[in-house]
This record gives sequence, C-alpha cells and structure tokens, in this order.
Amino acid sequence: MPIFGRERAAERSTGPLRLHLGCGQSPIPGWLNIDFQHLPGVDRVLDVRRGLPFENVAMIYGEHFLEHLELEEGLACLVECRRALADDGILRVSTPNLDWVLASHYRHGRWTTDDEAISDCFRMNRAFHGWGHRFLYNRQALEAALSAAGFSTITMHRYGESDVPELAGLERHEKSGDTAELPHVLIVQASGRAARREISRELREEYRQALEAR
Ligand SMILES: C[S@@+](CC[C@H](N)C(=O)[O-])C[C@H]1O[C@@H](n2cnc3c(N)ncnc32)[C@H](O)[C@@H]1O
Repeated sequence: MPIFGRERAAERSTGPLRLHLGCGQSPIPGWLNIDFQHLPGVDRVLDVRRGLPFENVAMIYGEHFLEHLELEEGLACLVECRRALADDGILRVSTPNLDWVLASHYRHGRWTTDDEAISDCFRMNRAFHGWGHRFLYNRQALEAALSAAGFSTITMHRYGESDVPELAGLERHEKSGDTAELPHVLIVQASGRAARREISRELREEYRQALEAR
C-alpha cells in the first residue's frame, strides 16, 4: 500500500483528519484523498472494502462513490466510517438519487414513439450498470443504511450547502436538471452514535441470492 508524501504530511499534521473517499481526480486540498486507483491527486491508494485504517477522524466525505460499492460493501463501508469517526465526527455522502433517475430516465406512459421507449430502456440500464455503479439508493434506503451503521443524526442537504463550514461547497459534480423537490443526488450528513438498526435480513438475503444467480 503506497504511502505518498502528502499522506505522510497529513499523518504528521496535528489538525483534524478529514478523509475524502473515492476522490478520483477531484482531490480536496487539506483532506486525505483516498482512491483505489493511482490517479493524480490521490494521497492514499486504498480499497475501502478492506476497511479504513484510521481512528478519531473528524470528517469523511464521498461524492459519487457509495454507489460504486455493492450493497453489502456499501453497508460495511458506512459501518467503518462510523467506527473511524470521532464521537463528534461527521460523514457527508453525495450519491445519485434513485427517485430522480426513475422520474427523469423512464417516462412510462408518456412515450409517443417506440424509439422513446427504447431510449428510456437503455438509459435506465445505463443508470444501474454504467460507470461502475453497483447499487442506487433512494432517500429512505440511504437513511436506513446510515441507521444500520449506527449513526443517530441523519440530515439531508442541498448541493453545496451545509451547516458545517468545512462541508459546504464540496460538491463538484455537474447538476443534472434538478428541482428542489427532486434533486439528482442525495446529499446526506450523518453523525452521533446509536444502536445499529439493521436493514431487513430477508431483503438483503433475497437481493444477495439474486445477484449470485445467473
Ligand atoms: C465516479 S468516481 C467519483 C470520483 C470523485 N469523487 C468525483 O466526484 O469526481 C468514483 C471513484 O471511486 C473510486 N472507487 C470505487 N470503488 C472504490 C473502492 N472500493 N475503494 C476506493 N475507491 C474506490 C473509483 O476509483 C473512482 O475514482
């Protein structure tokens, strides 16, 4: 696991540790930028599915990252985030909004030609399988995943906005036809500790078996 100069600097730093997961080529200055690909701007090459080797972290941020993990990997990653964060640490996640995908990609009943229906069929499949996507969340499922990880306070936020100055203005991705009622991404902050409330085992098991079937 390579250690680069900036990571050593971050580890020496006495300031609060802030992790940017799945940073890609959009590193955030002052944060420890983590990705499993060697990309320009990555401070630490790390597959988060193997855990987060950090403690007492002040903040964790991930934009367009969670949906790249399979459901169980994503749930485990959120548990790791809660463990690695300090008691007063905060997680912020931005991930595609399944409600928006459905509303904007699949105009069932409004097609005027077969070509439109075919196009929507492709667009829906692209949303689920394209760009390395593994699991798309709606708000309720994302909140349930964070509760399952043991966070007690879960709040939704608008693009670029936060009550915590360090977490404001972080989103970089383009906006895609958002409305206030239906944003294209779910942006959530999670903090505090609570007993973990697992998502239905039956649902998860049924999903796991379906993924394994061919
Ligand atoms: C769609 S890109 C988003 C990059 C950046 N956050 C942005 O918004 O532009 C997803 C990133 O997550 C990284 N990634 C996916 N799975 C990962 C994993 N298991 N561990 C670490 N990084 C991962 C990918 O390499 C990729 O750079």
